[in-house]
Amino acid sequence: MTDKLWYGGDYNPEQWPREVWDSDVRLMQRAGVTVATVGVFSWARLEPRDGEFDFAWLDDLMDLLDSHGIRVDLATATASPPVWLARKHPEMLPVTADGVRLGVGSRQHYNPSSSAYRRHAARLVRELAARYGTHPALEAWHINNEYGCHVSRDYSEESAAAFRVWLERRYGTVEALNAAWGTAFWSQAYGAFDQVGVPAAMPTYPNPGQLLDFDRFSSDALLECYLAEKEILRELSPDVPVTTNFMGFLKGIDYWSWAPHVDFVSDDCYPDPADPDSAPFGALARDLMRSLGGGAPWILMEQSPSAVNWRAVNAPKSPGMHRLHSLQAVARGADGIMQFQWRAGRAGAESFHAGMLPHGGEDTRVFRETVQLGEELASLADVRGTRCDARVAMIMDWDSWWALEQEARPASLDYVRVLAGWYRELWSRNVLVDLVRPTSDLSSYAAVLAPATFVLSAEGSANLAAFVEGGGQLLVGYQSGIVDERLHVHLGGYLGGLRDVLGVWIEEFAPPAPGSLSGTPAPALRISGLGEGGASTFAEVVRVSDAEVLATFTGPQPHGGLLDGRPALTRRRSGAGAGWYLATQPDNFGAVLDAVLEAAGVVGVEAPAGVEVVRRGDRTFVLNHNDHAVELTLAGEPLALPARDALII
Ligand code: GLA
Repeated sequence: MTDKLWYGGDYNPEQWPREVWDSDVRLMQRAGVTVATVGVFSWARLEPRDGEFDFAWLDDLMDLLDSHGIRVDLATATASPPVWLARKHPEMLPVTADGVRLGVGSRQHYNPSSSAYRRHAARLVRELAARYGTHPALEAWHINNEYGCHVSRDYSEESAAAFRVWLERRYGTVEALNAAWGTAFWSQAYGAFDQVGVPAAMPTYPNPGQLLDFDRFSSDALLECYLAEKEILRELSPDVPVTTNFMGFLKGIDYWSWAPHVDFVSDDCYPDPADPDSAPFGALARDLMRSLGGGAPWILMEQSPSAVNWRAVNAPKSPGMHRLHSLQAVARGADGIMQFQWRAGRAGAESFHAGMLPHGGEDTRVFRETVQLGEELASLADVRGTRCDARVAMIMDWDSWWALEQEARPASLDYVRVLAGWYRELWSRNVLVDLVRPTSDLSSYAAVLAPATFVLSAEGSANLAAFVEGGGQLLVGYQSGIVDERLHVHLGGYLGGLRDVLGVWIEEFAPPAPGSLSGTPAPALRISGLGEGGASTFAEVVRVSDAEVLATFTGPQPHGGLLDGRPALTRRRSGAGAGWYLATQPDNFGAVLDAVLEAAGVVGVEAPAGVEVVRRGDRTFVLNHNDHAVELTLAGEPLALPARDALII
């Protein structure tokens, strides 16, 4: 195993003549590359015909990298099946909800439940593991690539059959399934499991329980593919760690259920350089990765050295930005910084995606930054293995994400946007946050935030209530605790099992008024008790049973005064702890957060806007994301930072 930070990227030498490889390894050495990810899309090259393997080129490559001191993150190559396989087994191609079978000629053209795909993938992995499982260059196994990136839901017959098996395992009897899905509604009752199908295109709203279970099943079906490969690697290459690259906030996969199965978490992250919030958004994804691994170091497996090729506008990273994003990842727990890709491609759909070594070659800004970053990461090797310490947690839960964004729901809310809005305020206060689930162990936190935690089981609410009773500060946001894990509504007033600990319940919803047909905007909500500003978003009619009212909606309001005088923010103290309820997203959310953090005794780090300060181990990272220089005082010391520059103290 390397004792350095990982630094390098996807390396696809099979796309280049052999003589280019020699210049690649020479330049990799110059750039301080420590690890290369190899073989991600090499299946057709490794197995050009059914059962005929060609490993000569990969033998050569592994030895070449080894002799230059570059470690290998070896992919199992199962992410893009060869054409011959798809032609032989067209039933392995994915089918969309509209019944369209997808074609060959891009990538990820397999349905996860396909037995032909799984059988052939397993055979390839067995060959690779037997051949390279003890190779001296092998640092880690990289299973598949970005599971679910393009195809996370498949509606084929094979998937439908697998879905039925999954349901039978979950419910046992068809009566239990009918009860869970509430099929008394619209005459949807099933008489046997073999009558159940996937939620393909339908005349109108599909059954919510069926949709949610299909989301869960689809995540599990991909996980089965991963686990099948992992089992082979464990058998033939037991000492080499195994990962698969996650994709941050990918809706299709519940990474909480995947994370226990990777030896280390790894992530691909592509914040838009043109988005003014790219720094907080990147930070949020990094905090999620650290949290998925329970605080353990993780690897940033892919990021672009500059522009990508897949946005409407592919903005380049401004000078210094790539370094800042990389150091941000290290600060937030990463033990490696990898990019897509080493050498910018010459042909194929990603030719215009940046590489560490651009089309222009060595005499380019991007390559110079590649070399500088390599030097800096080499000097940071001793951060490896150190951890970050967060006292605040925020709930992030795929069930709530999936359910909140179904078509049949109370409000049109974008779950990740709601989370990112709360997170941004924490980020700007330099308060480090872990992401958790409602049922996670919360004992190490002083404050827990629960934005739009739409799905809340009895177990989850009991856990959150116990956190408050144990002295914690819990801030719950609108659209939480509306349904249980089967999407059955909590009766007697929304908030379910949180009603007592919050001392409030929700009687009605008041989504933002859409404005008039002629374009007159709807009036914003006014709030008293939170300083400046109101709210222009979702609100709820709160009924207080046992809580203090800290802020109220004041008239005139949309909805004919429905909200007038109603609570916008409440608090119920319980010993040293308190349950806070926020019934809307106020413009001045910062004031709410400050009050909760103060009660929790959590103090951030004061810094100018756009300056990120993070502590990992005994190092403090100060990152100036601004296009201008800043001055600040840190622990009594005055500091000056040029535009888009960083200091590590
Ligand atoms: C993903 C994939 C890579 C490449 C990049 C482009 O992260 O894993 O193979 O397609 O996107 O940004």
